[in-house]
Amino acid sequence: MNKLIKGGRVIDPKNGIDGVLDVRIKGGRIAELGPGLAADAKEEVIAAAGKVVCPGFIDLHVHLRDPGYEYKEDIISGTRAAAAGGFTAVCCMPNTDPIIDTPAVAHYVLAKAAGQGVIPVLPFGSITRGAAGKVLTEMGAMAAAGCAGFSDDGVPVESAAVMRNALEYAKMFDLPIVSHSEERALSKGGLMHEGYFSTIYGLKGIPALAEELAVHRDIELARLTGSRLHLCHLSTAGSVALLRRAKAEGLKVTGEVTPHHLTLTDELLADFDTDYKVNPPLRSAADVEALIAGLNDGTVDAIATDHAPHHFESKDCEFELAAFGISGLETAVAAVMEYLVRPGRLSLPRMVELLSCGPAGVIKREGGSLSVGAAADICIIDPELSRIVDPAKFFSQGKNTPYKGRTLTGWPIMTIAGGRIVYEYSA
Ligand code: DOR
Repeated sequence: MNKLIKGGRVIDPKNGIDGVLDVRIKGGRIAELGPGLAADAKEEVIAAAGKVVCPGFIDLHVHLRDPGYEYKEDIISGTRAAAAGGFTAVCCMPNTDPIIDTPAVAHYVLAKAAGQGVIPVLPFGSITRGAAGKVLTEMGAMAAAGCAGFSDDGVPVESAAVMRNALEYAKMFDLPIVSHSEERALSKGGLMHEGYFSTIYGLKGIPALAEELAVHRDIELARLTGSRLHLCHLSTAGSVALLRRAKAEGLKVTGEVTPHHLTLTDELLADFDTDYKVNPPLRSAADVEALIAGLNDGTVDAIATDHAPHHFESKDCEFELAAFGISGLETAVAAVMEYLVRPGRLSLPRMVELLSCGPAGVIKREGGSLSVGAAADICIIDPELSRIVDPAKFFSQGKNTPYKGRTLTGWPIMTIAGGRIVYEYSA
């Protein structure tokens, strides 16, 4: 059904639009933007006064756990969670079982998402077979199958030689290598950020250098090969500085930051709550400041969730034994709104950019704008809606959220993908 979204604050950073406008959707596409558009009899009118109307969000970093770990999440629950978070497309990580290391598994993900998901899923194929770090996958065949990039996320590619070859090969298909940059020799056995609080809490630390050494290596390999490198979940001041310098030097390097690294610190592990256990770990307050500065000065390209749903048994145990990861799709926007946008630390248009055309640019895909003729992928946010985070109400099967019980203000209330309403908030 055709729709007219009336009277919202339309923010479309790609097209430099920020004003009170109406948006007309016809045949699943954006048909017209303008003030005071008249509805025709066959259109569904969506009243959006006081709301923010923006391009649907694109998440570059989601673990859908399907195939193989459907007891943690699957493509149906994961895409519904994404829609509830305002996302109209997600890239999924290949650390499934089997790993997405052949065209067959990529086809499975694409077919299941097209048939049963509520939004499109773009798979990342793994860099190495079985993500074992040794032998490259058949990248050409996986690119042809529809993979949007390559990543061994969850584990780093330890060999610089393998990473160099991966960058060379990915370049032939103009796809990014999406790097989980971690020097395991430094991080192994670590449970939280290494610093004052790891000492006080008595937990083995993961130094910032474990990330920064690997980020530096990967940037130098991107320089050597001239290939596209995307850096996942940057969490330290040093990593942001390295990305800033690489960009100034003209390298094809991009980077993402997660909502949890932007809004939470290592100090919060005081209660040994395993929902705060994530890799890379929550860092120091100074690191958080540097990440926010990176958003504001254009260094960081995207906010990505690293949605990592886990079964409760993987979290309801001793801190040391608990799995790393945060279920992040449904709280991403509200957390950034509450802790960054509302206190004036990040502008609303910049937040929208980091969630829409920013990530679209990283994977060089259409989307992330309200251009006339583009697919009608739209998120409507109520900036004044306050909700207490209740994981029991998540669409995601992963209830592992550090935001549980917190009141956050500013939530997606409607998500439209290809002109269809795929999520609508009801109190
Ligand atoms: O916290 C994390 N969880 N970090 C990762 O790198 C992997 C992810 C997962 O798959 O659970």
